[in-house]
Amino acid sequence: MKPFTIALVAGARPNFMKIAPIARALRERAEAAREAGVDMRVSIVHTGQHYDENMSKVFFRELEIPEPDRHLEVGSGSHAEQTARIMMAFEKYLLQVMPDWVVVVGDVNSTIACALAAKKLGVKVAHVEAGLRSFDMSMPEEINRKLTDAISDLLFVTEESGVQNLRSEGVATEKVFVVGNVMIDTLLRNLAKVEGPDFSPSPTVKAFCDNGHRYAVLTLHRPSNVDRRETLAPIWGVLSEIARRIPILFPVHPRTRGKIREFGMKENGIALVDPVGSLDMLYAVKGAALVLTDSGGLQEETTALGIPCVTIRENTERPVTVTMGTNYLAGTDPAMILAAANEILEGNAKKGSIPPLWDGNSSLRIADLFLDIAMDRRSIAGESH
Ligand code: UD1
Repeated sequence: MKPFTIALVAGARPNFMKIAPIARALRERAEAAREAGVDMRVSIVHTGQHYDENMSKVFFRELEIPEPDRHLEVGSGSHAEQTARIMMAFEKYLLQVMPDWVVVVGDVNSTIACALAAKKLGVKVAHVEAGLRSFDMSMPEEINRKLTDAISDLLFVTEESGVQNLRSEGVATEKVFVVGNVMIDTLLRNLAKVEGPDFSPSPTVKAFCDNGHRYAVLTLHRPSNVDRRETLAPIWGVLSEIARRIPILFPVHPRTRGKIREFGMKENGIALVDPVGSLDMLYAVKGAALVLTDSGGLQEETTALGIPCVTIRENTERPVTVTMGTNYLAGTDPAMILAAANEILEGNAKKGSIPPLWDGNSSLRIADLFLDIAMDRRSIAGESH
C-alpha cells in the first residue's frame, strides 16, 4: 500500500523556527503509526527562499531539523519571480512524490507558492498559523495569509482572533483547530538549552549582553519601514535617540543592511551585527530590558518571555500580544515609539500574561491530528477539492 506521506515546507528564516517542532512531533507520531502497521512518512522540502549560512543553515543545525529531503534552491527575486519559481519547482516535486498532505507554515512567499501548487494538483493543504490578519493588504504577508487560508483544507490557529477572522471569511469551522503556537514550542525548547550548562553565546553577543549594563535588542526588516529613505530616516532618528538612553544590539537583516548602506545612515550608537542564530537571539532577548521590532515572531516570543516589546508598525496580525502580552503597538510615529520606550525604561511596562495553549505542546496537537488521519480515524471537512 502507498505510504501516507506529509510534505513539510519551509523557505525563509521564520519558517525554520516553526517547522522544527512540527517535524519532530510528526516523526514521533509516524513511529506510533508504524507500530500500528501504518506507513506514515514525513518529508521536508526547503524552497531556498533564504539561503545564506546565517539565514538558513544555522537554523537547521541549532534547531536539529533533519536535512531537507528536497532543496528547490530558488533564491531571491521579485515577488512574482520568486513565487513562480517556487511553484514550478515544487510542482515537479509533487508530481514525483504525490504526498497525501502538504503542510505550510506562516506567511512568506514559499507558503502561498507551495499551497497553491499543491492545491492545483489535488493534494490537501494544511496551514499552520492560519487566521492571523493585519487587515493591511499592502503587506505581502497579508496577501499570502489570506490566499493560503482560502485554499487550505486544515487550518491550525495560534490565537482566538484567528478563529474569528476565519469565521468572518466563511471558512468552515470543522477545518479550523486552535492548537496554540508552534514557535513557542521552539522557544521553550531553546530556553532550556540557553539556560543549560553547555551553552555559551557567540563572542559578539556575549560581549554586548554580559557586561553588567541593561540593553535593548532591535530588529527591523519590513519593506514598509526600511525600503524608502522617507520612512527609514525618522525611525532611525528615534532609535538613535533611544540609543542615547540604553545601548541597542541590532542583528541586521540583509535587506536592511543594504538600505542603511544605500542611504548612508550612521550607526549613532546602535550596535549593528550580522544576523544571529536562534539561540544567540534568545539569549540576547531574554536578558533585554526592551525589544524594539517590526517582526511578527518577536512580538510573540517577547510575550511568552514577559519581556517588554515596542512594535514599530501601524498594525499587528497578532493582537493577543497587545491585549494579553507585553507588546506595545507604537506605530511608526517617532513620538509614539519614544513614549513607549520611555514608559518601559522608567519601569512602568505593562505586565503581560501568556495566551492559552502557548505551552510548548502545539506541534504535538497538530501531529496527533495527522496520526488520526493516517490511521483513518478522522475525516476532514471539505474532502472534495
Ligand atoms: C521574507 C518574508 C517576510 C519575513 C522575512 C524574514 C516574504 C514576502 N517575506 O522577507 O515575511 O518576515 O523573510 O526574514 O516572503 N537575502 C539575502 N540572503 C538570504 C535571503 C535574502 O541576502 O538568505 C536578501 C536578498 O537581497 C533578497 C532580500 O534579502 O532580495 C529579501 O529577501 P526575501 O526572502 O525576498 O524577503 P525578506 O525581506 O527576507
